Amino acid sequence: MNIILLGPPGAGKGTQAQRLVERHGMKQLSTGDMLRAAVKAGTPVGLKAKAVMEAGELVSDEIVSALIGDELDAMPASQGAIFDGYPRTAPQAASLEQILESRGRKLDCVIELGVDEDALVERITGRYTCASCGKGYHDTFEKPVVEGTCDKCGSHEFKRRPDDNEQTVRTRMAEYRAKTAPILPIYEERGIVARVDGMADMDNVTAAIEAVLKPR
Ligand code: AP5
Ligand code: MG
Repeated sequence: MNIILLGPPGAGKGTQAQRLVERHGMKQLSTGDMLRAAVKAGTPVGLKAKAVMEAGELVSDEIVSALIGDELDAMPASQGAIFDGYPRTAPQAASLEQILESRGRKLDCVIELGVDEDALVERITGRYTCASCGKGYHDTFEKPVVEGTCDKCGSHEFKRRPDDNEQTVRTRMAEYRAKTAPILPIYEERGIVARVDGMADMDNVTAAIEAVLKPR
């Protein structure tokens, strides 16, 4: 199965993608994570993306679509893909169609995480991840069981994203409204959009996504 998780910054795309990976052995394809890895490694893509990401703007369509194609090529054909944060523009949506078709895959479902924008700033500014395994946490909503120790791998090192400040979050939201929300009708016309309440408790969001995917 190939699915898109669509929603504004902080909607819970990464959180829910990690859970789908654990439950179904699918692969999370997060263009944000790929770009952050490129920035960290100092690759040519990372050098181009760094300032754009720190400003909360969108990296070029060509760069992100190439990253997605490469990741799909490295996956077994039988493994399902979760597109997290991609596509984000109409040209990216068109590229995804070609990328999937040329690899004999099809898009099964677009899950739109509906959220109240006012809550997103709190979610994003409280977010951090394990520096070792990448497990996501939140200062209020998802703390490690033992403070300062990752539940998953036991590491004591955590990190925060440089673009997780209020000013950049506002730009990221404006980019979402202007460029990403308008791609939804493409998928609505095909009857493959399912709306899930992203304001619910994390476990309830997971249950709602499972209910959407079950009959397929
Ligand atoms: P990206 O990394 O994709 O960031 P984003 O879309 O802004 O989304 P986030 O990762 O901030 O939010 P999320 O929905 O994953 O939320 P999460 O689950 O972490 O992109 C970053 C940048 O890279 C972009 O700005 C752009 O520059 C560039 N980029 C990436 N893809 C691109 C593309 N395709 N084209 C061009 N440029 C691209 O949750 C947030 C927090 O809330 C967590 O702490 C979590 O614990 C908590 N939380 C989650 N769910 C709940 C809940 N139900 N209740 C309470 N708390 C919750
Ligand atoms: Mg994310």
